[in-house]
Amino acid sequence: MTDTRDDLIAAARDAAGRAYAPYSGFHVGAALLLKNGDVVTGANVENASYGLTLCAETAAVAKIANEGWIGELAEVAIVGGRPDGDALIGSDPVNPCGRCRQILNEAAERSKVDILVHCASGDGTAVATYKLSELLPAAFGPKDLGLID
Ligand code: THU
Repeated sequence: MTDTRDDLIAAARDAAGRAYAPYSGFHVGAALLLKNGDVVTGANVENASYGLTLCAETAAVAKIANEGWIGELAEVAIVGGRPDGDALIGSDPVNPCGRCRQILNEAAERSKVDILVHCASGDGTAVATYKLSELLPAAFGPKDLGLID
């Protein structure tokens, strides 16, 4: 459990290093653990038209959906902060934004797992772990459209 958590956070931190965030300067990485043990990552992708920014979690979920793995999600880690060389600065855990909670919910419902979401600070000193159902209670999802039981 701790190994899974720490390995996932490490993968998310690594992904944050590939963020394209020249406007906010805030680099976020997300790591999605699949049921078979594979890890798929994403990082935020900003745009000169600011509102078009893609969050790290959204980028990562798009990757698994495009591979046909949207029903294979098991667990998630998110890391964010401001880069300082190879390190990230920031002592508060980064919580997923509202849109990303909804996007994670799509994959979680399809996977039939109330996934754990590990939210880590940039400097690695703080981790807050939630179930997705705590972050997004009474979610609207594929079950409401009759796609799953
Ligand atoms: N960001 C994410 O990548 N995920 C979140 O859940 C919250 C915010 C990004 C978007 C933007 O590039 C930067 O963080 C600052 O908001």
